[in-house]
Amino acid sequence: MQLIKLSATDSTNAYLKDLMFNNNLGDFTVVMAHTQLKGRGQMGTNWLAEPGKNLTFSVLVKSQNIQVSDQFLLNIYVSLAIYETLFQLHVPDLKIKWPNDIMSGHCKICGILIENMLSGQHIQASIIGIGLNVNQLTFNNLPNVSSLKLLLGTSFNLEELLLNIVANLKRLIGKSGEEEHKRLFEQYEARLFRKDKPSTFTDHNNEMFMGFIKGVSSGGQLRILMEDNIQKAFNLKEVKLLY
Ligand code: BTN
Repeated sequence: MQLIKLSATDSTNAYLKDLMFNNNLGDFTVVMAHTQLKGRGQMGTNWLAEPGKNLTFSVLVKSQNIQVSDQFLLNIYVSLAIYETLFQLHVPDLKIKWPNDIMSGHCKICGILIENMLSGQHIQASIIGIGLNVNQLTFNNLPNVSSLKLLLGTSFNLEELLLNIVANLKRLIGKSGEEEHKRLFEQYEARLFRKDKPSTFTDHNNEMFMGFIKGVSSGGQLRILMEDNIQKAFNLKEVKLLY
């Protein structure tokens, strides 16, 4: 693994993507930044982090031989790698909020942004961006957000945490074969936020509905048991879970 440490950049995902287009980078090249000036979140949102307090980094994953139709596996590898790292630190009430937010209780502590480069039906490379709230103590105007320090009362070494996450990611990506993948899907589903609990959602028309999260489809859609007792699968843009 090669670790590139930057004092400041717009976005580690953007930096790593540029670097990849101009160089032949090795698998698991990692870029971490003390400060991100234009951190990117899912669906065009911003990712804000106090300089030097949190982990903001991106990992290049190559040659994993994943079909585009199986790309949700990557969400599973990454979510579980972070989940396992934080579980070892005794972060309370850890859950994965579909598709890949890491929660402690009702608070988000980590966000993940995966950008895939496709070649035909295969994923050629993925840039996996991770923003983990570590030592930051205040999150102005952001409800339901927390950090490891707020939850556990101690500060953490950022690089040590990064190395643990990348080691777990490598180990999980190494698990190949249908049986292993099935097991990883099951582990991911068992850790889903609000699984089997009556929950309120909004659909693409902003209409509210009730349902129970049951799991994810092989394509990564969220499976919800609706009030009429029928299961429906939703894409990311089609459903929002309300707190
Ligand atoms: C989200 O929950 O919306 C995803 C947030 C992902 C943030 C990380 S921080 C490191 C990497 N670089 C970025 O610009 N974004 C990701």
